[in-house]
Amino acid sequence: MNKILITRAVPERFLNDLQQMSEVTMYPEELKPMPREAFLEQSNDKTVVITMLSDKVDREYIDNCPELKAVINLAVGYDNIDLDYAAEKGIIVCNTPDVLTETTAELAFTLMLVTARRITEAAEMVQSGGWVGWSPYLMAGKDVYGKTVGIYGMGMIGQAFAQRCKGFGMKILYHNRSRHEEAEQGIGVSYAEFDELIKESDYVVCTAPLTDETKGKFNKEVFQQMKNDAIFINIGRGGHVIEEDLLQAVQNQDILAAGLDVLAVEPIKEDHPFLKEPNIVILPHIGSASVETRDAMIQLCVDNARHILNSEEPLTAVKN
Ligand code: DGY
Repeated sequence: MNKILITRAVPERFLNDLQQMSEVTMYPEELKPMPREAFLEQSNDKTVVITMLSDKVDREYIDNCPELKAVINLAVGYDNIDLDYAAEKGIIVCNTPDVLTETTAELAFTLMLVTARRITEAAEMVQSGGWVGWSPYLMAGKDVYGKTVGIYGMGMIGQAFAQRCKGFGMKILYHNRSRHEEAEQGIGVSYAEFDELIKESDYVVCTAPLTDETKGKFNKEVFQQMKNDAIFINIGRGGHVIEEDLLQAVQNQDILAAGLDVLAVEPIKEDHPFLKEPNIVILPHIGSASVETRDAMIQLCVDNARHILNSEEPLTAVKN
């Protein structure tokens, strides 16, 4: 009998199909990650695991799972998985692309607007009773309309984000591993070298996946090259950013502000200095968190598992 582990509680309605063809174990917590020990212990007889981006599928994990045929990650990103080692061991890795593109682009755009217009700061001021009256520069932010946005990463999410920027009358630069002629012609984005992108942009938005090449890309030197009133947005992965450098850049006014949906260590520690900075807006990694999209992502994981257990091609296997 095939055995499946799902490392977080998902609604029962998604399990019916899987229960017909396998024994399904589901970690009962909805909010908290499965502790590493339990993850290791409960995986060692499983054929398929449905993982979250907080579960590390590394050598130790893979060596611990002799029966494992597939790891299906409930995310488009898969930097939590050692792809090379999985491939070496013949383990299929799947992710959930496409179904989350628009929702994640929407969050990126929201974060840009929220940071530009100081929305969290303004709402907190009202809630704490600090609103004493109208004033010409009260919570005055920065326009988005007519500004230049530099998008780092022109994958599906980068393109969907660019479409939104177009609707807001922005000039759109992008930098990507390779040029994206379809986006250049279809959306009207212009390719820029990385240095040019960070110097020219009023908003620098990271939508790229985390790889060895992009790790630590946004560092002191890069922030110092940005405009002094630039806003940095990251919806990719926290690992793209050297966080101490970002903090200093905001504190020294090398840049104006930052909006982050992702952090190097999640969840953020209570005493993290970012939390004291009004010009740094932090969200709890909710890029794809609409009910419709999370339903679609879970369903896609289930469909991938069904295909794999039926010895059919998975729908969204990650190419290595
Ligand atoms: C993912 O799925 O990788 C994104 O981080 C969603 O927020």
